[in-house]
Amino acid sequence: MEREGEAVEIKEFKSLSREFIDVIGGLFVSDETVVRKTLSAALANGHVLFEDMPGLGKTLLAKSFAKASGCRWSRVQFTPDIMPADILGTRIWVPRSGEFVLEQGPLFTNILLADEINRAPPKTQSALLEAMEERQVTIEGTTLTLTRPFFVIATQNPIEHEGTFPLPEAQMDRFLMRMRTGYVKDLESEMEILNRRVRWRSEDPVADLRPVVSQERFVEMQALVEEKIFVHPVLISYMCQLVRATREHFAVEAGSSPRGSLALMKLSRAHAAIMGRDFVTPDDVKLFAREALSHRIILKMEYEVEGEITPAQVVEEVLKGVEVPKDFGR
Ligand SMILES: Nc1ncnc2c1ncn2[C@@H]1O[C@H](COP(=O)(O)OP(=O)(O)OP(=O)(O)O)[C@@H](O)[C@H]1O
Ligand SMILES: [Mg+2]
Repeated sequence: MEREGEAVEIKEFKSLSREFIDVIGGLFVSDETVVRKTLSAALANGHVLFEDMPGLGKTLLAKSFAKASGCRWSRVQFTPDIMPADILGTRIWVPRSGEFVLEQGPLFTNILLADEINRAPPKTQSALLEAMEERQVTIEGTTLTLTRPFFVIATQNPIEHEGTFPLPEAQMDRFLMRMRTGYVKDLESEMEILNRRVRWRSEDPVADLRPVVSQERFVEMQALVEEKIFVHPVLISYMCQLVRATREHFAVEAGSSPRGSLALMKLSRAHAAIMGRDFVTPDDVKLFAREALSHRIILKMEYEVEGEITPAQVVEEVLKGVEVPKDFGR
Protein backbone atom coordinates (compact mmCIF):
# COMPACT_ATOMS: atom_id res chain seq x y z
CA MET A 1 0.00 0.00 0.00
CA GLU A 2 2.80 2.40 -0.86
CA ARG A 3 1.31 5.68 -2.03
CA GLU A 4 4.25 7.65 -3.34
CA GLY A 5 4.16 11.37 -2.78
CA GLU A 6 1.62 11.31 0.04
CA ALA A 7 2.40 11.62 3.72
CA VAL A 8 2.29 8.44 5.75
CA GLU A 9 -0.96 8.13 7.66
CA ILE A 10 -1.39 6.52 11.01
CA LYS A 11 -2.96 3.26 9.77
CA GLU A 12 -0.18 2.75 7.29
CA PHE A 13 2.35 3.69 9.95
CA LYS A 14 1.00 0.93 12.14
CA SER A 15 1.19 -1.72 9.43
CA LEU A 16 4.71 -0.67 8.38
CA SER A 17 5.76 -0.86 12.03
CA ARG A 18 4.27 -4.33 12.31
CA GLU A 19 6.27 -5.39 9.28
CA PHE A 20 9.44 -3.93 10.80
CA ILE A 21 8.93 -5.83 14.03
CA ASP A 22 8.20 -9.09 12.20
CA VAL A 23 11.16 -8.84 9.84
CA ILE A 24 13.59 -8.16 12.69
CA GLY A 25 11.92 -10.74 14.89
CA GLY A 26 12.61 -13.24 12.09
CA LEU A 27 16.32 -12.93 12.86
CA PHE A 28 16.62 -11.68 16.41
CA VAL A 29 14.93 -13.94 18.96
CA SER A 30 13.53 -11.85 21.81
CA ASP A 31 10.63 -10.40 23.60
CA GLU A 32 8.86 -8.16 21.08
CA THR A 33 9.15 -5.11 23.32
CA VAL A 34 12.93 -4.96 22.78
CA VAL A 35 12.39 -4.51 19.05
CA ARG A 36 9.44 -2.17 19.54
CA LYS A 37 11.48 0.06 21.83
CA THR A 38 14.37 0.16 19.37
CA LEU A 39 11.97 1.09 16.59
CA SER A 40 10.48 3.84 18.76
CA ALA A 41 13.91 5.38 19.34
CA ALA A 42 14.73 5.25 15.64
CA LEU A 43 11.42 6.85 14.67
CA ALA A 44 12.16 9.56 17.21
CA ASN A 45 15.53 10.06 15.44
CA GLY A 46 17.30 9.29 18.71
CA HIS A 47 20.56 7.56 19.55
CA VAL A 48 20.41 4.20 21.28
CA LEU A 49 22.98 2.48 23.47
CA PHE A 50 22.72 -1.28 23.82
CA GLU A 51 24.54 -2.35 26.91
CA ASP A 52 24.80 -5.99 27.80
CA MET A 53 27.04 -9.00 28.19
CA PRO A 54 28.93 -10.39 25.17
CA GLY A 55 27.09 -12.58 22.70
CA LEU A 56 23.53 -11.49 23.47
CA GLY A 57 22.71 -10.37 19.95
CA LYS A 58 23.38 -6.62 20.28
CA THR A 59 25.22 -6.41 16.98
CA LEU A 60 22.70 -8.65 15.26
CA LEU A 61 19.79 -6.46 16.38
CA ALA A 62 21.56 -3.24 15.38
CA LYS A 63 22.53 -4.55 11.96
CA SER A 64 19.17 -6.04 11.10
CA PHE A 65 17.50 -2.87 12.20
CA ALA A 66 19.70 -0.67 10.01
CA LYS A 67 19.13 -2.93 7.04
CA ALA A 68 15.32 -3.04 7.49
CA SER A 69 15.09 0.76 7.59
CA GLY A 70 16.23 1.09 3.98
CA CYS A 71 18.61 3.85 5.05
CA ARG A 72 22.32 4.11 4.41
CA TRP A 73 24.31 2.71 7.28
CA SER A 74 27.90 2.05 8.21
CA ARG A 75 29.56 0.18 10.99
CA VAL A 76 32.60 1.07 13.02
CA GLN A 77 34.27 -1.39 15.31
CA PHE A 78 35.84 0.68 18.07
CA THR A 79 39.32 -0.16 19.30
CA PRO A 80 41.72 1.51 21.73
CA ASP A 81 43.73 3.07 18.89
CA ILE A 82 40.88 4.57 16.88
CA MET A 83 41.28 8.33 16.27
CA PRO A 84 38.59 11.03 15.81
CA ALA A 85 39.57 11.37 12.14
CA ASP A 86 38.81 7.68 11.60
CA ILE A 87 35.17 8.47 12.40
CA LEU A 88 34.69 12.04 11.22
CA GLY A 89 36.99 12.14 8.23
CA THR A 90 39.98 14.23 7.32
CA ARG A 91 41.50 16.45 4.66
CA ILE A 92 43.80 14.62 2.35
CA TRP A 93 46.29 16.06 -0.09
CA VAL A 94 45.71 15.07 -3.69
CA PRO A 95 49.01 15.58 -5.55
CA ARG A 96 47.45 15.32 -9.01
CA SER A 97 45.13 18.30 -8.58
CA GLY A 98 47.41 20.00 -6.06
CA GLU A 99 44.71 20.56 -3.43
CA PHE A 100 43.27 19.24 -0.20
CA VAL A 101 40.06 17.23 -0.48
CA LEU A 102 37.74 16.38 2.38
CA GLU A 103 37.44 12.67 2.81
CA GLN A 104 34.29 11.96 4.78
CA GLY A 105 34.48 9.35 7.51
CA PRO A 106 31.91 6.62 8.29
CA LEU A 107 29.90 9.12 10.35
CA PHE A 108 28.47 10.53 7.11
CA THR A 109 25.63 8.09 6.83
CA ASN A 110 22.06 7.71 8.13
CA ILE A 111 22.57 5.07 10.76
CA LEU A 112 25.96 4.60 12.35
CA LEU A 113 26.53 1.32 14.15
CA ALA A 114 29.18 2.08 16.74
CA ASP A 115 30.21 -1.28 18.06
CA GLU A 116 31.98 -1.58 21.44
CA ILE A 117 31.91 2.18 21.94
CA ASN A 118 33.60 1.86 25.33
CA ARG A 119 36.76 0.51 23.71
CA ALA A 120 37.45 3.83 22.00
CA PRO A 121 39.73 6.34 23.75
CA PRO A 122 37.96 9.35 25.36
CA LYS A 123 39.04 11.75 22.60
CA THR A 124 37.31 9.69 19.94
CA GLN A 125 34.24 9.09 22.09
CA SER A 126 33.84 12.78 22.69
CA ALA A 127 34.24 13.65 18.99
CA LEU A 128 31.50 11.16 18.17
CA LEU A 129 29.21 12.34 20.94
CA GLU A 130 29.61 15.98 19.86
CA ALA A 131 28.56 15.06 16.35
CA MET A 132 25.63 13.08 17.75
CA GLU A 133 24.38 16.06 19.70
CA GLU A 134 24.87 18.71 17.06
CA ARG A 135 24.19 16.57 14.01
CA GLN A 136 26.99 18.42 12.30
CA VAL A 137 30.73 18.05 12.13
CA THR A 138 33.54 20.53 11.81
CA ILE A 139 36.62 19.18 10.10
CA GLU A 140 39.55 21.55 10.01
CA GLY A 141 37.38 24.63 9.81
CA THR A 142 34.69 23.32 7.45
CA THR A 143 31.29 22.60 9.02
CA LEU A 144 29.17 19.90 7.45
CA THR A 145 25.57 19.09 8.37
CA LEU A 146 24.59 15.45 8.65
CA THR A 147 21.63 14.22 6.59
CA ARG A 148 18.30 13.14 8.04
CA PRO A 149 17.77 10.61 9.41
CA PHE A 150 20.93 10.49 11.43
CA PHE A 151 21.25 8.41 14.52
CA VAL A 152 23.74 6.15 16.22
CA ILE A 153 23.11 2.65 17.49
CA ALA A 154 26.01 1.97 19.82
CA THR A 155 26.80 -1.21 21.68
CA GLN A 156 28.96 -1.86 24.69
CA ASN A 157 29.63 -4.49 27.30
CA PRO A 158 29.10 -3.48 30.93
CA ILE A 159 31.98 -1.51 32.36
CA GLU A 160 33.45 -4.17 34.62
CA HIS A 161 35.14 -5.69 31.59
CA GLU A 162 38.82 -5.01 31.14
CA GLY A 163 40.38 -2.72 28.54
CA THR A 164 37.51 -0.27 28.29
CA PHE A 165 36.98 3.48 28.73
CA PRO A 166 33.58 3.92 30.38
CA LEU A 167 31.53 6.68 28.78
CA PRO A 168 31.38 9.76 31.05
CA GLU A 169 27.91 10.51 32.45
CA ALA A 170 27.74 13.76 30.48
CA GLN A 171 28.06 11.78 27.28
CA MET A 172 25.59 9.11 28.33
CA ASP A 173 22.99 11.86 28.45
CA ARG A 174 23.17 12.17 24.66
CA PHE A 175 21.62 8.78 24.19
CA LEU A 176 17.85 8.91 23.94
CA MET A 177 17.79 5.57 25.67
CA ARG A 178 20.05 2.91 27.00
CA MET A 179 18.78 -0.63 26.98
CA ARG A 180 19.68 -4.25 27.45
CA THR A 181 18.98 -6.92 24.91
CA GLY A 182 18.91 -9.47 27.73
CA TYR A 183 19.13 -13.24 27.79
CA VAL A 184 16.36 -15.08 25.95
CA LYS A 185 13.55 -16.07 28.31
CA ASP A 186 13.17 -19.82 28.03
CA LEU A 187 14.66 -23.00 26.61
CA GLU A 188 12.34 -22.85 23.63
CA SER A 189 13.70 -19.45 22.52
CA GLU A 190 17.25 -20.60 23.20
CA MET A 191 16.62 -23.52 20.84
CA GLU A 192 15.00 -21.24 18.31
CA ILE A 193 18.33 -19.40 17.89
CA LEU A 194 20.03 -22.67 16.94
CA ASN A 195 17.19 -23.92 14.81
CA ARG A 196 17.21 -20.73 12.76
CA ARG A 197 20.93 -21.08 12.30
CA VAL A 198 20.47 -24.57 10.90
CA ARG A 199 18.20 -23.12 8.21
CA TRP A 200 20.43 -20.18 7.27
CA ARG A 201 22.43 -20.70 4.20
CA SER A 202 24.88 -17.83 4.68
CA GLU A 203 26.99 -16.89 7.69
CA ASP A 204 25.44 -13.43 7.66
CA PRO A 205 21.64 -13.67 7.76
CA VAL A 206 21.33 -9.88 7.65
CA ALA A 207 22.68 -9.90 4.08
CA ASP A 208 19.40 -11.45 2.87
CA LEU A 209 17.16 -9.14 4.83
CA ARG A 210 14.80 -7.10 2.70
CA PRO A 211 14.27 -3.42 3.65
CA VAL A 212 10.77 -2.66 4.93
CA VAL A 213 10.74 1.00 3.84
CA SER A 214 12.86 3.40 1.83
CA GLN A 215 14.88 6.20 3.39
CA GLU A 216 12.27 8.76 2.23
CA ARG A 217 9.48 6.75 3.80
CA PHE A 218 11.41 6.43 7.01
CA VAL A 219 11.86 10.21 7.22
CA GLU A 220 8.11 10.65 6.55
CA MET A 221 7.37 8.28 9.40
CA GLN A 222 9.61 10.34 11.66
CA ALA A 223 7.75 13.47 10.57
CA LEU A 224 4.39 11.92 11.45
CA VAL A 225 5.60 11.22 14.97
CA GLU A 226 6.50 14.87 15.45
CA GLU A 227 3.52 16.41 13.73
CA LYS A 228 0.52 14.19 14.32
CA ILE A 229 0.79 12.60 17.74
CA PHE A 230 -1.04 14.42 20.49
CA VAL A 231 0.38 14.73 24.00
CA HIS A 232 -2.16 15.90 26.57
CA PRO A 233 -0.96 18.58 29.01
CA VAL A 234 -1.56 16.18 31.93
CA LEU A 235 0.98 13.82 30.38
CA ILE A 236 3.49 16.61 29.90
CA SER A 237 3.06 17.28 33.59
CA TYR A 238 3.40 13.55 34.37
CA MET A 239 6.70 13.27 32.49
CA CYS A 240 8.10 16.37 34.16
CA GLN A 241 7.03 15.16 37.60
CA LEU A 242 8.81 11.85 37.01
CA VAL A 243 12.01 13.59 36.04
CA ARG A 244 11.83 15.98 38.97
CA ALA A 245 11.23 13.09 41.33
CA THR A 246 14.51 11.47 40.23
CA ARG A 247 16.28 14.62 41.42
CA GLU A 248 14.58 14.50 44.81
CA HIS A 249 15.23 10.82 45.54
CA PHE A 250 17.31 10.29 48.72
CA ALA A 251 19.96 8.14 47.02
CA VAL A 252 20.51 10.42 44.06
CA GLU A 253 23.40 12.86 43.68
CA ALA A 254 22.27 14.22 40.29
CA GLY A 255 18.91 13.35 38.77
CA SER A 256 17.76 13.38 35.19
CA SER A 257 18.25 16.47 33.05
CA PRO A 258 15.37 17.87 30.95
CA ARG A 259 16.81 15.71 28.18
CA GLY A 260 15.23 12.88 30.15
CA SER A 261 11.71 14.29 29.99
CA LEU A 262 12.20 15.21 26.34
CA ALA A 263 13.30 11.63 25.70
CA LEU A 264 10.17 10.31 27.41
CA MET A 265 8.01 12.51 25.23
CA LYS A 266 9.73 11.58 21.97
CA LEU A 267 9.74 7.86 22.70
CA SER A 268 6.11 7.81 23.88
CA ARG A 269 4.91 9.60 20.77
CA ALA A 270 6.75 7.20 18.49
CA HIS A 271 5.38 4.25 20.43
CA ALA A 272 1.81 5.58 20.24
CA ALA A 273 2.15 5.80 16.45
CA ILE A 274 3.59 2.28 16.24
CA MET A 275 0.50 1.06 18.09
CA GLY A 276 -1.71 2.96 15.63
CA ARG A 277 -2.83 5.65 18.08
CA ASP A 278 -2.66 9.39 17.46
CA PHE A 279 -2.32 10.22 21.16
CA VAL A 280 0.06 9.24 23.95
CA THR A 281 -1.12 7.26 27.00
CA PRO A 282 0.49 6.97 30.45
CA ASP A 283 1.44 3.39 29.55
CA ASP A 284 3.60 4.65 26.68
CA VAL A 285 5.43 6.86 29.17
CA LYS A 286 5.83 4.11 31.75
CA LEU A 287 7.12 1.68 29.15
CA PHE A 288 10.17 3.88 28.52
CA ALA A 289 10.82 5.32 31.97
CA ARG A 290 13.62 2.90 32.82
CA GLU A 291 15.42 3.05 29.47
CA ALA A 292 15.01 6.80 29.04
CA LEU A 293 15.99 7.87 32.55
CA SER A 294 18.24 5.46 34.41
CA HIS A 295 21.41 6.32 32.48
CA ARG A 296 20.91 9.97 33.41
CA ILE A 297 20.89 9.34 37.15
CA ILE A 298 24.05 9.57 39.27
CA LEU A 299 23.81 7.96 42.69
CA LYS A 300 25.41 9.39 45.81
CA MET A 301 28.81 7.87 46.40
CA GLU A 302 27.75 5.83 49.46
CA TYR A 303 24.85 4.19 47.61
CA GLU A 304 26.97 3.66 44.50
CA VAL A 305 29.61 1.83 46.53
CA GLU A 306 27.20 -0.28 48.54
CA GLY A 307 25.35 -1.24 45.39
CA GLU A 308 22.11 -1.65 47.35
CA ILE A 309 20.17 0.55 45.03
CA THR A 310 20.59 1.06 41.30
CA PRO A 311 19.44 3.92 39.06
CA ALA A 312 16.90 1.52 37.55
CA GLN A 313 15.41 0.93 41.02
CA VAL A 314 15.26 4.67 41.58
CA VAL A 315 13.16 4.92 38.41
CA GLU A 316 10.85 2.12 39.60
CA GLU A 317 10.33 3.90 42.92
CA VAL A 318 9.69 7.18 41.21
CA LEU A 319 7.06 5.54 39.00
CA LYS A 320 5.27 4.26 42.10
CA GLY A 321 5.38 7.65 43.77
CA VAL A 322 3.94 9.85 41.02
CA GLU A 323 0.21 9.79 40.41
CA VAL A 324 -0.76 8.50 36.96
CA PRO A 325 -3.09 10.84 35.02
CA LYS A 326 -6.48 9.46 34.02
CA ASP A 327 -7.86 11.81 31.37
CA PHE A 328 -5.41 12.11 28.49
CA GLY A 329 -7.28 11.61 25.18
CA ARG A 330 -7.82 14.24 22.52
N1 LIG B 1 18.57 -13.24 20.68
C1 LIG B 1 19.24 -13.76 19.65
N2 LIG B 1 18.60 -14.12 18.53
C2 LIG B 1 19.25 -14.64 17.48
N3 LIG B 1 20.57 -14.86 17.46
C3 LIG B 1 21.28 -14.52 18.54
C4 LIG B 1 20.65 -13.95 19.69
N4 LIG B 1 21.60 -13.72 20.62
C5 LIG B 1 22.74 -14.09 20.07
N5 LIG B 1 22.59 -14.59 18.82
C6 LIG B 1 23.63 -15.08 17.92
O1 LIG B 1 24.80 -15.17 18.69
C7 LIG B 1 25.91 -14.60 18.03
C8 LIG B 1 26.46 -13.42 18.80
O2 LIG B 1 25.61 -12.32 18.64
P1 LIG B 1 26.14 -10.82 18.50
O3 LIG B 1 27.42 -10.79 17.79
O4 LIG B 1 25.03 -10.00 17.94
O5 LIG B 1 26.35 -10.49 20.05
P2 LIG B 1 26.84 -9.16 20.74
O6 LIG B 1 25.87 -8.91 21.84
O7 LIG B 1 27.05 -8.10 19.74
O8 LIG B 1 28.22 -9.63 21.37
P3 LIG B 1 29.53 -8.75 21.72
O9 LIG B 1 29.19 -7.97 22.96
O10 LIG B 1 30.57 -9.78 21.98
O11 LIG B 1 29.81 -7.89 20.54
C9 LIG B 1 25.44 -14.25 16.64
O12 LIG B 1 25.74 -15.30 15.77
C10 LIG B 1 23.95 -14.09 16.80
O13 LIG B 1 23.30 -14.42 15.60
MG1 LIG C 1 28.74 -6.99 19.14
